[in-house]
Amino acid sequence: MGTDLHELLRSLRVWDPEVTALPAFDPADAPAEPLPLFTTWFAEAVAAGQTEPHTMSLATSDAEGRPDVRTVMLHGADADGWSFATHVTSRKGEQLTARPYAALGFYWPVLGRQVRVRGPVTAAPSADGQADLHARSTGALAAALTGRQSEVLVSLDELAKVSQTAWERAQREPDSPVPTWTLYHLRPLEVEFFQGDGRRQHVRLLYRRAEDTWTTQLLWP
Ligand SMILES: Cc1cc2nc3c(=O)[nH]c(=O)nc-3n(C[C@H](O)[C@H](O)[C@H](O)COP(=O)(O)O)c2cc1C
Repeated sequence: MGTDLHELLRSLRVWDPEVTALPAFDPADAPAEPLPLFTTWFAEAVAAGQTEPHTMSLATSDAEGRPDVRTVMLHGADADGWSFATHVTSRKGEQLTARPYAALGFYWPVLGRQVRVRGPVTAAPSADGQADLHARSTGALAAALTGRQSEVLVSLDELAKVSQTAWERAQREPDSPVPTWTLYHLRPLEVEFFQGDGRRQHVRLLYRRAEDTWTTQLLWP
């Protein structure tokens, strides 16, 4: 029996006040820079039980300017910018080489909050990427060692074999280098905070970098 997608979609709600009590957000209390607000909102998402709050959409463009998007993990947000890691040889890695500019999207539904970040992207020195990788789990190293991300896979058997070998190596040699694994920093030029509201009076606060300082403005929802 087929699923009636439209019926399912009509039955679903966002920001249902009977399910989720959304916090109020007063932009007058917001800090002068976006990073402390991001850090606060991130900690509040964790405290509210948001699953996997450290996953984000990473949007890039190909050489022709056509957009692309996928989910990656946030590795940090600090003076270096918002950081993530991947293979420089992957599709997104090639796109970032051709057009070193990206956007990030976070959505934390338990609090009805969205954060968007845009800006130029730079690859960190290789040593930083390797150190970041080796500080992570054996599984993360094994996945990176498996390599060939975004290439055509001929069969799942091939993946199973290469993955098994990578796991064994990751356990045996936890400092194995993965030359293509790269840590990227996105330097924010714009950061937007969106607080959803049950009555649809969503609050949007946009920070824009201006030289060494930030300006803010409200946006219509
Ligand atoms: C929750 C989640 C987290 C992920 N984290 C990463 C990551 O940190 N780095 C990465 O390269 N791929 C990660 N992936 C896989 C990417 O979404 C994507 O499939 C892969 O990087 C290939 O993308 P590309 O072909 O556009 O380069 C993650 C996927 C999911 C669902």
